[in-house]
Amino acid sequence: MSLTDSVVYQIYPKSFRDSSGDGVGDLRGIIEKVDYIASLGVDHVWFNPFFPSPGRDNGYDVSDYCAIDPAMGTMEDFEELVAALGEHGIGVMLDMVLNHTSTEHKWFQRALAGDPVYQDYYYLLPPKEDGSLPTNWVSKFGGPAWAPFGDTGLYYLCLYDRTQADLNWHNPAVRAEAAGVVNFWRAKGVKDFRFDVINVIGKPLPLQDAPTGTDDRRMYTDGPLVHDYLRELCAASFGQDPEAMTVGEMSSTTVEACAGYSNPANGELSMVFSFHHLKVDYADGAKWTRIPYDFAALKRIIDEWATGMQAGGGWNALFWNNHDQPRAIDRFADPEHYHAESATMLATVIHLLRGTPYVYMGEEIGMTDPAYLSIEDYVDVEARNAYNELTAGGMGAQEAFAIVHSKARDNARTPMQWNAEAPGAGFTSGTPWLRPTNQQTVNVEREEAQGRILPYYRRLIALRKELPIISRGAYAPYLMEHEDVLAYTREHDDSCLMVLCSFRGHDTEVPVPEAFASARILIGNYDGNDRIRSSDELPPVADRLEAGTIRLRPYEAIALLA
Ligand code: NOJ
Repeated sequence: MSLTDSVVYQIYPKSFRDSSGDGVGDLRGIIEKVDYIASLGVDHVWFNPFFPSPGRDNGYDVSDYCAIDPAMGTMEDFEELVAALGEHGIGVMLDMVLNHTSTEHKWFQRALAGDPVYQDYYYLLPPKEDGSLPTNWVSKFGGPAWAPFGDTGLYYLCLYDRTQADLNWHNPAVRAEAAGVVNFWRAKGVKDFRFDVINVIGKPLPLQDAPTGTDDRRMYTDGPLVHDYLRELCAASFGQDPEAMTVGEMSSTTVEACAGYSNPANGELSMVFSFHHLKVDYADGAKWTRIPYDFAALKRIIDEWATGMQAGGGWNALFWNNHDQPRAIDRFADPEHYHAESATMLATVIHLLRGTPYVYMGEEIGMTDPAYLSIEDYVDVEARNAYNELTAGGMGAQEAFAIVHSKARDNARTPMQWNAEAPGAGFTSGTPWLRPTNQQTVNVEREEAQGRILPYYRRLIALRKELPIISRGAYAPYLMEHEDVLAYTREHDDSCLMVLCSFRGHDTEVPVPEAFASARILIGNYDGNDRIRSSDELPPVADRLEAGTIRLRPYEAIALLA
């Protein structure tokens, strides 16, 4: 298994499987489902944080990096999970939230108690002379990015929730602690790591106001020190293991910076997550808005990252979904009328691209956003804050709810739907912490018996391992001007792959170049073209061609191999 042919499955532990009946997922629940995970053919599982945490940001506010949250299980459970996955050759990827700690972490508590050693672990600053906050930065969850540090008169930096205090990575002791945390988990057999919002650890000093009218994120994102600190962390921890696989979550970043973070020559990370392609339904860049998504922009951004990262020797993590995003099937396709076609078309786009695909739990059975009717159904601090801000700004409750409903992170955090049972969907025998709403029609049991999505995912995952053109082929854009179809080619040795994916609920025509006239259909989401066939049994595309064009049906995806 190598970086290029690997596929990662992402599990949000709180929502995967609850073995205890308390309504919250746990490690023993995941152990019960190891065979299912292995059946997908994935090579790594990324777990969202399950460390002790007050849970203000669902585990991204860590109060102890080297322990297991008792609500999730014990260290023995964790070791058993690593071993059980290991038996199937599946590696464990842990989520390292090292930009900030919970304010309940002992480092912060010692700082608050006056210990100067720990005070230097955080950014503590006095107000400006005029009494205003140290900088004009805003928190990503709303409000200012500074909060009072006890009764000292100082403020601490918190780019996320007030209970998530940014760590001062300029302090070598903090960097040593970070490497220590990674090494603690390496000693437990963990090889792979995801680094949360890692491109904000190198904040240029002194921390300064963003000039009026400019984006404050530019004042602390992708500073040159990020590269230095990543290289140092790599050398002091995961970089000592040639098999380690790492991914950095890059917030508000650029292709250039990311090619640098992930170019193997630089000794930083294996790959990066970027998010620009998931902002194409933000009005003027603002998340809490509701507009139809911009398909042309989606195509442009996917191409920009595929082309730019290839040119810069970098490597993308490929994904549509994660625990922070509403379900892509609701955003970019039509689950109501074309459920299986929508899910499999979106999967085709990602899985045949250059990069490492990530499958977020439930995506492989076509899980959708829940049909919630009230803000009370949402738990997430970000969604609640957004709703309150929108209504406080004068927006009607109905409109504010519609916006939150379209963008909330909880949309992806509803429990994994294992079967049609209510209320627990086979996730829990108790009351689920977040309510599923369509388990009668969308669930693993049903997909295994008669579904089209799960087998398609398994086939796509297997193809990446079978064909070097998928894992290593060169990418090129195709049909950038086409209004309905996202298309690209891959090339390797003397073979060529063409991927055509329709994002429309109506038929659309696509020109196919002469070089592909005698190509075969490697995989497609209509006509049983997801079946496993030997290469000489693949159906010829010629049967679908008319005067050099192919007519794609609603949300059809097809890959041609020449
Ligand atoms: C990104 C994580 O994915 C998100 O869930 C979290 O709220 C922020 N980082 C802060 O840690």
